[in-house]
Amino acid sequence: MSKEISRDEIAQNDSRDSLWCIIDAKVYDLTDFADAHPGGSVVLAQIAGQDATIDFFNLHRYEVLQKYDGSLCIGTVKGEKSQVIDPKPGDLSLVPYGEPTWLTPQFRSPYYKQSHRRLQRAMRVWVDTVLTPEARERELDGSRIGDAVLKDMARLHMNAMRMGPGPHLKGRTLMNGVVSPEEFDFFHEMIITQELCRTGTRGFNDGNLGGMVISLPAVLYHARPSVRDRVAEEVLSGKKWMCLAISEAFAGSDVGGMKTTAVKSADGKHYIVNGTKKWITNGTFCDYFVTGVKTAKGFAVLLIERGEGVETTPIKTSYSAAAGTAYIKFEDIKVPIENLLGREDDGFKVIMTNFNHERWMIAIFTVRESRLVVEGCIKWANQRRVLGKRLIEEPVIRQK
Ligand SMILES: Cc1cc2nc3c(=O)[nH]c(=O)nc-3n(C[C@H](O)[C@H](O)[C@H](O)COP(=O)(O)OP(=O)(O)OC[C@H]3O[C@@H](n4cnc5c(N)ncnc54)[C@H](O)[C@@H]3O)c2cc1C
Ligand code: HEM
Repeated sequence: MSKEISRDEIAQNDSRDSLWCIIDAKVYDLTDFADAHPGGSVVLAQIAGQDATIDFFNLHRYEVLQKYDGSLCIGTVKGEKSQVIDPKPGDLSLVPYGEPTWLTPQFRSPYYKQSHRRLQRAMRVWVDTVLTPEARERELDGSRIGDAVLKDMARLHMNAMRMGPGPHLKGRTLMNGVVSPEEFDFFHEMIITQELCRTGTRGFNDGNLGGMVISLPAVLYHARPSVRDRVAEEVLSGKKWMCLAISEAFAGSDVGGMKTTAVKSADGKHYIVNGTKKWITNGTFCDYFVTGVKTAKGFAVLLIERGEGVETTPIKTSYSAAAGTAYIKFEDIKVPIENLLGREDDGFKVIMTNFNHERWMIAIFTVRESRLVVEGCIKWANQRRVLGKRLIEEPVIRQK
């Protein structure tokens, strides 16, 4: 990489047998890569021996260069310097609207304290280095988030922090101690969600314990203590998965239209559940289903464990299968009475209050992902406007 090469020498490597090009004052030997190039070898032959900076950035994201730099870059152009700023893990973007306002140096807010800033910085580095590479791969291959990343999230107690402040945080060392359980508030939770969705991989992000975020509150606030403690421990540690099973082919916005039934057994020890659920995030790989059912005089919410009579099949959606979106069939399932969340016939309140955490999380996601879109568009437009004179990929603030 340190080798300096003159433009004259580069120009001589202009054939299929020796195919070099310049991108942002760096020299790339694409001879062996040409046949594997996703855009084909023909297009590379057309720029052989030339400065391909403008063409490259018109067709690729900067991350492509970061990925291949180590294997393809053979040196720099003599007397020239790269213009593109290479974002490092943890950097903040200076692209207008690219970051939440409180992260701009000029902004002052009484709500954000040092612990919020420490948490944001730690999360940014972790997402850039650990989560994003995993997210990109899983989003494409449609498989569930890998165990190694899950384990790391559990080690940092990120799953517990995603449930907001509360007793479930007690005694935990959060994100290596950057914030204590006592000072943890909803702004800290918002920061976790904001940083997690920066991967820009919508299906994967829902697959990354989205089901837990929207269903565990029903267990934390409405389950019997013995069920609550066991399930919370299993799920927050990443050992088991859970999802929220409310929607049906017959019931979406109109939750009251649910047709799945729960009938008490003659000995009063079980509910017998029959019915279907549709569009259930994480359902394909879940161990627990927080399920809305119709009872004799109203509704109830039951914690159903995967077992005989529970069948989940993937639903094809417009986003990645990494979300594990499922169609679920319950056929004569026996659910122990202890797994009732809240009171029988009064489950509608449990369903509605449980939606609150989901709405809060989705609102954060939506705003933060909109910023990603705006940031991407401005970068793209800027790139095209200034290319050829001065190339600005991404101005950044390097955080200490
Ligand atoms: C990717 C994905 C993941 C999902 N994950 C889950 C999950 O994990 N768990 C779960 O339980 N569900 C899940 N759902 C289901 C989701 O909650 C429903 O799609 C949602 O409640 C809307 O219901 P519906 O699709 O039946 O649309 P409908 O309720 O049929 O609505 C259709 C249209 O009519 C409009 N509309 C409906 N009622 C009214 C009204 N009264 N006044 C005016 N307009 C109205 C709606 O705004 C919408 O535009 C998921 C859905 C998707 C797409
Ligand atoms: C270091 C050199 C290069 C590497 C590592 C590289 C890599 C890639 C990759 C990974 C893709 C898939 C799409 C993506 O992920 O963005 C791609 C697509 C493509 N590349 Fe390259 N590329 C290089 C240089 C070039 C150059 C110099 C040109 C042309 C001037 C070019 C033209 C294309 C085209 C036309 C596509 C298809 C775009 C599309 O499908 O929309 N590439 N390249």
